Amino acid sequence: MNITVIGVGHVGLVSAAAFARWGHQVVGHDDDAAKLERLQGGEAWFYEPGLQELLDEVIGAGRLTFASDPAEALTDAEVVFVCVGTPPLPGGGPDLSYVETVGRTVATHAPRDLVLVEKSTVPANTGRRLEQVIDRETARLATPYRIQVASNPEFLKEGAAVLDTLHPDRVVYGTSSDSARDVMRGVYAPLVAEDGCPVVETDVASAELIKHASNAFLATRISFINAVAQVCERVGADVSVVAEGMGHDIRIGHRFLQAGLGYGGSCFPKDVDAFAHLAGQVGYEFGLLDEVRDINVGQRASVLHKLEGELWHLTGKSIALLGAAFKPGTDDLRESPALHLADDLRAAGAEVRIYDPVALPNVAEEHPWLARYEDIDELLTGAHAAVVCTDWDEIKAITSDRYLKHLAYPIVIDGRNVHDPTAMIDAGVRYHSMGRRSVND
Ligand SMILES: NC(=O)c1ccc[n+]([C@@H]2O[C@H](COP(=O)([O-])OP(=O)(O)OC[C@H]3O[C@@H](n4cnc5c(N)ncnc54)[C@H](O)[C@@H]3O)[C@@H](O)[C@H]2O)c1
Repeated sequence: MNITVIGVGHVGLVSAAAFARWGHQVVGHDDDAAKLERLQGGEAWFYEPGLQELLDEVIGAGRLTFASDPAEALTDAEVVFVCVGTPPLPGGGPDLSYVETVGRTVATHAPRDLVLVEKSTVPANTGRRLEQVIDRETARLATPYRIQVASNPEFLKEGAAVLDTLHPDRVVYGTSSDSARDVMRGVYAPLVAEDGCPVVETDVASAELIKHASNAFLATRISFINAVAQVCERVGADVSVVAEGMGHDIRIGHRFLQAGLGYGGSCFPKDVDAFAHLAGQVGYEFGLLDEVRDINVGQRASVLHKLEGELWHLTGKSIALLGAAFKPGTDDLRESPALHLADDLRAAGAEVRIYDPVALPNVAEEHPWLARYEDIDELLTGAHAAVVCTDWDEIKAITSDRYLKHLAYPIVIDGRNVHDPTAMIDAGVRYHSMGRRSVND
């Protein structure tokens, strides 16, 4: 099939490459000239394991090309995927203006009847609004084509995006006609034949809602275990063991029950807010999601309290943050708990320094005031305390000896529960973690 992907970012580029791998002919378009230039040179513009290799393969085979002109990008399109951002607005809802812009562009340049697929995460009933926009635009054309809107939410995880896309847990698409459903079947037929993943075919609004409900549920699990961690700290229990004990129940399972600094990234915070906002708009107060967000923010405050407990005032104290990315395997800093914590520490008067194995160039752009270190030992040297913010392997591997050798005061707040509390405390580290044994217990 001839597929056009509009917005070749974390979702769009990986999806475009996967469509090409499955044998489709794909054109990627983006309105950011700098990103397109790198892609036209065959280079991914962000870090994601396995992505460059996949791009080499499909660009080399001539199945993925890029076009900066939207009309050119749409010349052969039978299916168009919208993969542009839907960032949060101050009121909690998502900014859907990028999606609307794409709707207008496609309506104006459509070369034939086609299916326009929302892959961006959007609130339920965005499809209807998009159809309205398209109808208004096409009404002005002499020979309007039929553009049907479908929803095909994306569930990939940054850091494992290529693997998740080539071997998804499920594919979900929502359509409003048999012909649009058949087009979506055609897009995913090679994947389903090869991988055998489950496919959920539904209406557009249900598909849209599946995405928000899934992310809100996963965020709820994280906040739930973080709330449990708070109780564990107060009663002397160990949240890791509690989570393990809970997870053996097959109705519960082990995943997304790691206590820590909380969730971040471009999806969970925004999608929790957007889902609560949508519910409020249609007359249901989804208070549970407000609580999920508050617990998440509270985890950062709890790290700050632990630091103050050890250091008294933070003014003039040097704090070493281990990890900047919101999780390992990515250089994405959007809503990174580490950077939120850096802001909080700076506001409290601390001097903040940071290490990350891949995200430092992005830190330089987004938080230029942060002192950046490419070497963990250099980062730790002379700092008054260290905070584990991202569970990269090289951070998990830091031993008590290294902390004791380099830190000015041997204080470690393990925001990701990556170290063994007993080993750290017995070695003499003033060690605190999230919902587990701390040095004072
Ligand atoms: N990042 C994830 O892990 C993830 C996972 C699932 C779903 N999503 C959803 O997918 C959507 C995209 O997220 P992302 O992380 O890929 O964002 P991104 O910022 O990495 O990519 C979006 C791209 O769209 C481009 N763009 C914006 N407006 C455009 C326009 N009018 N025309 C052409 N290009 C335009 C931007 O330049 C950018 O390259 C969001 O709705 C997000 O919630 C993201």
